[in-house]
Amino acid sequence: MPRRLTGFTPSGDLHIGNYFGAIAPIVARQADAGTVVFITDLHALTLEHDPALVRRRTLEFATLLLAAGVDPTACLLVVQSHVPEHTELHYLLECVTGYGEASRMIQFKEKSRRQERVRLSLLTYPVLMAADILLYDTDEVPVGEDQRQHVELARDLAQRFNSRYAPVFTVPTAVNPPVAARIMDLASPTGKMSKSAPSPAGVLRLLDPPDVLRRKVMRAVTDPGTTVAYDPDAKPGVSNLLAILSACTGTGPHELATGFGGYRELKQAVADAVVATVAPVQRRYHDLARHPEHVREILRAGAERARDLAAAKVRAAKEAIGLMPA
Ligand code: TYM
Repeated sequence: MPRRLTGFTPSGDLHIGNYFGAIAPIVARQADAGTVVFITDLHALTLEHDPALVRRRTLEFATLLLAAGVDPTACLLVVQSHVPEHTELHYLLECVTGYGEASRMIQFKEKSRRQERVRLSLLTYPVLMAADILLYDTDEVPVGEDQRQHVELARDLAQRFNSRYAPVFTVPTAVNPPVAARIMDLASPTGKMSKSAPSPAGVLRLLDPPDVLRRKVMRAVTDPGTTVAYDPDAKPGVSNLLAILSACTGTGPHELATGFGGYRELKQAVADAVVATVAPVQRRYHDLARHPEHVREILRAGAERARDLAAAKVRAAKEAIGLMPA
């Protein structure tokens, strides 16, 4: 059975980019793969953060992932810091990572530019992500386009370690969804929808009430002209709306474009489709959120099973790289 693994960093509120980029793809195929889903709380420490908020969001993300369909009988749902082997393998992988290749990561360049004091962990973040992936013999990593380069690094590190020391790691592949790999911000559609956007106006959060979602869609920035066409370069705003509608309905964006006479009609359809997609997730979320102990129990069980898998992999990596067993 192929192993699929993905992660979500509790550094802001989950939005429909996260949903279509990674949550829906993992849920759709969780029955035919050994699936592992992480709330990657250690990654949230790489930027200035509020400790209480990271803790609260970790439980919120777990609850929301369950509400979005992650099935704990089919998947492992795990908080990254509950499995200390991630930081252990992280160090071993740092020993096969070049400083140059870490500093070439696009996200590092973008995020470090915005920081006054850059944390060292921001530079080594993709190596920790590689540890997340390589600990579990992962074959496929469903992610949005922004994480593709990090998965490429995990591939490179696995290949390098295997050829230099011993064939310990499975070489993973990134899997991007066909249309929603990069959902853009509705208020500035040349930038991606992001948890850390300076304004929430263009971000459709999974826990935004339906009227807020509708308002944000109806106020989305569109493009000059009046024709509805899917052309991300020439018409980024309209194309983003078509991509969202396509992700909600399963119909291709070019085909959808032919069905609308104008922008307002398109926005109305997008608002309806987003609310129809998100409303059942919100209903389940509010039910589950009343039982945090139940969610914590799922996380405890997930961590216990993950540790068994991870411990064996760390043992093999330590031996291969030259460490003497105790
Ligand atoms: P994160 O938390 O930023 O995002 C979670 C997932 O959502 C995808 N995504 C998007 N997809 C489409 N359109 C968007 N606008 C959009 N924004 C985000 C991301 O690509 C990602 O798949 N470093 C990772 C978490 C991580 C991880 C891992 C992922 C840690 N370890 C191991 C996979 C495997 C991150 O911060 O994603």
